[in-house]
Amino acid sequence: MKDNTKLTVAGRPHQRPAHPVNTPVERASTYLFPTYDDYVEGAKSISYGRLGTPTHRALEEAVTALEGGFETRLAPSGLQACTASLLAFVEAGDHVLMVDTAYDPTRKFCDRFLKRFGVETTFYDPLAGEEEIAALMRPNTKVVFAESPGSLTFEVQDLPAIARAAHAGGARLVVDNTWSGGYFTKPLALGADVSIQAATKYLVGHADALVGTITSTDERTAQKIFHALLQLGSNVSADDAYLALRGMRTLSARLERHQENANELVKWLKKRDEVERILHPGQKTCPGHTVWKRDFTGASGLFGVVLRPAPLPALKAFFNAFKLFGIGFSWGGFESLVLPVKPENYRTATEWREDGPVLRFHAGLEDIEDLKIDLERAFMALAAAQK
Ligand SMILES: Cc1ncc(COP(=O)(O)O)c(C=O)c1O
Repeated sequence: MKDNTKLTVAGRPHQRPAHPVNTPVERASTYLFPTYDDYVEGAKSISYGRLGTPTHRALEEAVTALEGGFETRLAPSGLQACTASLLAFVEAGDHVLMVDTAYDPTRKFCDRFLKRFGVETTFYDPLAGEEEIAALMRPNTKVVFAESPGSLTFEVQDLPAIARAAHAGGARLVVDNTWSGGYFTKPLALGADVSIQAATKYLVGHADALVGTITSTDERTAQKIFHALLQLGSNVSADDAYLALRGMRTLSARLERHQENANELVKWLKKRDEVERILHPGQKTCPGHTVWKRDFTGASGLFGVVLRPAPLPALKAFFNAFKLFGIGFSWGGFESLVLPVKPENYRTATEWREDGPVLRFHAGLEDIEDLKIDLERAFMALAAAQK
């Protein structure tokens, strides 16, 4: 089945002659077993709310189908999907290779939390190939963590090359696949052992719930993820699992539109004198563009822009002029967003050399002409503030 079909059929209820089209919300902590034998047998499937209700199972099934994996488990946030996937594979004395362009809280979890438990982290260049990763591997390296494209600056990573080096050294490759929504690329097919999504973004798609997904490529990996989440006491509310499942039904239509709007905005922005550089994997100037062309079938709505240097009051006027683009964290919802970001604060293995302010845009589902008018208004405010 193709993705568009998987997204409409996976995780739907089949057990009754007549049933709702989508799996409904089943809220439960306690499940009751009619008999002793049912209790002993039942404990292997649906047994207790924290271990998942049929709503959770349905979302897991749909994500597994989308990512092309063996099994998916849910986490209460995208960040916990990242941290649990690290905790699942390391113990005191181990070493982690973390991409330098990872989402900052993922970086901090290594630097601050894992460090306290005797796990060391080396940050690596997102453009590192097989040889560079092989050179950084140590006998105790258990996880190579990738995020492609990278947070804030959108470098695309060569996952097959990184997977070869990780596996040769006995480590697992874990990939944060949030940007593609699991739709535009398949890290597991490219050699990764685990593909993570902050379902909070495109799967939920409406900026109203937080969920993480962790999809493993084989049973041994899946068992380790399951036990990490179990021992951490992780729980996702059935309502939030349902919202993510519901969002997935329209994922492909939304992502195609996010892509279209982002591409139009990029074209428009490239013509502006105020713009120094576009950070978007679809652009030839974006590091890793050829890898993106090889490994991705498209691009989502999140990208960056480097402006020519401008004084802070002018930048403030620029942000304050927007009426449609909201200033807000997160992304992947139906709405357009713009955020000032500082890549130089979140990297140690590589250097950020641009002088101008960096903006992160999320292209929402609004009419593109309205979005361009909003941008024009902001650029006019930027110019007026510098006169
Ligand atoms: C790439 C990436 N991974 C993980 C996360 C964390 O997701 P959540 O906010 O659901 O914890 C984010 C959030 O912005 C993200 O951008």
